[in-house]
Amino acid sequence: MVLLDQTRLPAEEAELVCADVPALVRAIRTLAVRGAPLLGIAGAYGVALAAARGEDVAQAAELLEQARPTAVNLGYGARRVARAYEEAAGSGSGPEAAAVALAEARALHREDAEASGRMAQYGLELLAELLPGGGGHRLLTHCNTGALVSGGAGTAFAVALRAHRKGSLRHLWVDETRPLLQGARLTAYEAGRNGMPYSLLTDSAAGSLFAAGEVDAVIIGADRIAADGSVANKVGSYPLAVLAKYHHVPFVVVAPTTTVDLGTVDGTSIVVEQRSATEVTEFTSKPGVRGGGEGGGTVVAPPGTKAYNPAFDITPPELVTAIVTEEGVISPVTGVGLAELCARSSQVTIS
Ligand code: MRU
Repeated sequence: MVLLDQTRLPAEEAELVCADVPALVRAIRTLAVRGAPLLGIAGAYGVALAAARGEDVAQAAELLEQARPTAVNLGYGARRVARAYEEAAGSGSGPEAAAVALAEARALHREDAEASGRMAQYGLELLAELLPGGGGHRLLTHCNTGALVSGGAGTAFAVALRAHRKGSLRHLWVDETRPLLQGARLTAYEAGRNGMPYSLLTDSAAGSLFAAGEVDAVIIGADRIAADGSVANKVGSYPLAVLAKYHHVPFVVVAPTTTVDLGTVDGTSIVVEQRSATEVTEFTSKPGVRGGGEGGGTVVAPPGTKAYNPAFDITPPELVTAIVTEEGVISPVTGVGLAELCARSSQVTIS
């Protein structure tokens, strides 16, 4: 598998070759490949790679699924391709089953691209309803949700991009997204490449930006949406939802139905990935790259400092104005509404 190494952006557009599943697992853990829908695609191709190499496909799917615990798409992609392989292997030869696995990964990749286009359109229509005044939307986003994490144009970022192309994006506020700077390194890179009007802010500057009346809506992605509508997304999303509520600003989540996990009952049941303390005690623009400090960055805290470093936080449904999927929009966010959207979805169901 040949990946665009996201740890090296924006300085370099470098390829990372993963010749086997352990190499891909390392790429996932170090965030060379990241973001919920892309993790699903990577998991799917990873299992197809194991099948092509004649390796144990079930074990490969298990290893990939465990590489990161929160983004449900990773397990979805890996298990979906493993199931297709096993069904084919039951009735045919190994190479034939490997070809079926690859075809299934390609199907998932294509479906993700299609879902992205539909979410962008539904999201644009929702923004027009929520923000009817002229002059264009000033949107605040967090982490990175564009083409880098998708088979298509992405999730939340795809909505902002479509708004830009239709002339209705006034400004994109990009949270830098501590500690690994997915906003600064990746969203700013994508916004710049697309000629969008954007500014970068530190995560802690968002409050004063709301207070100044500069944010019309918050638009973010998700890594897992529980059956009750609780949303796990990059740490820092929940504080934005609280700010949005206080300032009467819509808080919109954009994610494909493959990110909805009806098997997880509520937000407290979502496993939140805890990452290394060095991501907080050192400052680096290259996550996972080893160098000066233990984690590879410039040390900014005294030796021995402990850190609280969850990769995600959970936003309860009552703080979410709407969830936009490729099957449509729900607002208010309820478990019943979510289940209906998922039932409508043509995505393959994996238990
Ligand atoms: O730790 P990351 O960079 O994989 O986290 C990604 C996010 O939190 C994204 O916002 C989320 O996956 C939505 S991607 C469309």
